[in-house]
Amino acid sequence: MMRLIGKVAIITGAGQGIGRIIAMRLAAEGASVVIGDVNTETAWETAQEIETKGGNAVSIKLDVTKRNDVEEITRLALEKFGKIDILVNNAGIYPNSPIVDMKEEEWDLVMDINLKGTFLCSQAAARQMIIQGKGVIINIASVDAKTRTLKNAHYAASKAGVISFTRTLAGEVAEHHIRVNAVSPGWIANDPSKVNTQRWQEAIKDIPVGRLGTPNDVAEAVLFLVSDAASYITGEVLDVNGGMVMD
Ligand SMILES: NC(=O)c1ccc[n+]([C@@H]2O[C@H](COP(=O)([O-])OP(=O)(O)OC[C@H]3O[C@@H](n4cnc5c(N)ncnc54)[C@H](O)[C@@H]3O)[C@@H](O)[C@H]2O)c1
Repeated sequence: MMRLIGKVAIITGAGQGIGRIIAMRLAAEGASVVIGDVNTETAWETAQEIETKGGNAVSIKLDVTKRNDVEEITRLALEKFGKIDILVNNAGIYPNSPIVDMKEEEWDLVMDINLKGTFLCSQAAARQMIIQGKGVIINIASVDAKTRTLKNAHYAASKAGVISFTRTLAGEVAEHHIRVNAVSPGWIANDPSKVNTQRWQEAIKDIPVGRLGTPNDVAEAVLFLVSDAASYITGEVLDVNGGMVMD
């Protein structure tokens, strides 16, 4: 049985990678999906692929750091599908720089996209969900928020911020029947060319289940948390990391 028939979901950064697979997974369960990405071409391709498979999808240019863009995607969801049941804050970047060499601009950009973008999109969706009296928000965090990392202090801090934001928002909107959870992926092999590099092969040694994750592993966790099966779960961080960090 399809679990999301009649639901409307916005997925940010869904032009490629994990976001794309999340959008396809939710659409396959019957949700109408709104694909936002700074890359309009890949966003359109994701929507096309969903439509080709018989799903409902629209795409729009979305820079999550721009309030106007965020308002536009909210408007589009309401205009096309009449409501917003689900928001998945997936858009994120992960450049590498050691702290001593890190450019201030790079710090700001990572914080803006990963953390402020999550705030702006959540705020817009939550306002609509409060009117509806129901909704679910999922924030994509990272194992890096919970463990010692190297050369991505901005990223790790932004994702730790996402986890903290998840809990505060969950507490604030619970009375409106809005649930807010984070999914925290480990090492996800969304780009096959990366998987064979030494860095990724080394990483497998720290993963108890003995393999890298797939975008589908993340999408299944998102699907569970947005579904009614998770109706009593809010403010939670669901690790999808093959046991790499257990807490
Ligand atoms: N791949 C991993 O191993 C991994 C691990 C943990 C967490 N994550 C998180 O999962 C999410 C997706 O990662 P991915 O590996 O699929 O990345 P990706 O780079 O493949 O895809 C990210 C997408 O976000 C879009 N994007 C970038 N900036 C944007 C902005 N300002 N506004 C809207 N869209 C924007 C990009 O165009 C791209 O389509 C990110 O939040 C990332 O931090 C990934």
